[in-house]
Amino acid sequence: MVSVSVSPKPAITIVMALVLFFIFIYESKGSDEISPLFVADKNNNKVNLSVYYESLCQPCATFIIKNLYEIFNTNLISIVNLQLVPYANSHVNLTNNSISCQNGQDECILNSLESCAMNLWSDVGKYYGLIYCFEFLAIEGRSNKWQDCFDQLGLPLASILNCSRGNGTELAKKYIEETTKLHPPHSFLPWVVINNQPIAQKKY
Ligand SMILES: *[C@@H]1O[C@H](CO)[C@@H](O)[C@H](O)[C@H]1NC(C)=O
Ligand SMILES: *[C@@H]1O[C@H](CO)[C@@H](O)[C@H](O)[C@H]1NC(C)=O
Ligand SMILES: *[C@@H]1O[C@H](CO)[C@@H](O)[C@H](O)[C@H]1NC(C)=O
Ligand SMILES: *[C@@H]1O[C@H](CO)[C@@H](O)[C@H](O)[C@H]1NC(C)=O
Ligand SMILES: *[C@@H]1O[C@H](CO)[C@@H](O)[C@H](O)[C@H]1NC(C)=O
Repeated sequence: MVSVSVSPKPAITIVMALVLFFIFIYESKGSDEISPLFVADKNNNKVNLSVYYESLCQPCATFIIKNLYEIFNTNLISIVNLQLVPYANSHVNLTNNSISCQNGQDECILNSLESCAMNLWSDVGKYYGLIYCFEFLAIEGRSNKWQDCFDQLGLPLASILNCSRGNGTELAKKYIEETTKLHPPHSFLPWVVINNQPIAQKKY
């Protein structure tokens, strides 16, 4: 058990470092306003970082394999509560209780596999590894090869498939509900929230 103790001042530095990691993607999307968020919680010094995304949204994939990768690469992850929220632009069709995803059924499948990995495995590094692999394939337009990720990483496919078939819809609903709770609501993806504040807002 590793205990991480961070005083408020370094926590502020961490938030700033996170913001710096993330700025470029918003610049490239034409966003020009970065909210101030130098707020550290004295009782829980871990920084809450939430990323709302969809598995086949290209800016999301880029964010996951570049920006989020840096959080792991620099070991900032040890002081970050990372919450990944797929299905950000998905909807529940109440007529037949099915999920429809912005980029089609293939995206729903990947969202579901990623959700299951996050719910079955407690090790953030383990499921981030799988999600990284999926998103890497998505950028290359080869996301249909997602089964290769299990082989390459030596991860168990059967339990994830079982979850996806059994609990997939329940998990999807859970994540869709998480997204509807956003204040302010997201206006583009990936939508990155640090300690309850979105780190960038598009001007209209
Ligand atoms: C992070 O989230 C946890 C759980 O939701 C909450 O208790 C804590 O206050 C949050 N920390 C900050 C710095 O917002
Ligand atoms: C929901 O599903 C029903 C039945 O398949 C379909 O007729 C309807 O168009 C769907 N609604 C939306 C918003 O996709
Ligand atoms: C539900 O409706 C959608 C939209 O019409 C359709 O694509 C999907 O196949 C349907 N799902 C089921 C389980 O009937
Ligand atoms: C398969 O999923 C169901 C729930 O959908 C669960 O009860 C069962 O334990 C799972 N089986 C395996 C082998 O993971
Ligand atoms: C997954 O399915 C099992 C058995 O069907 C159920 O007990 C459990 O609450 C479900 N988990 C989620 C997150 O929906």
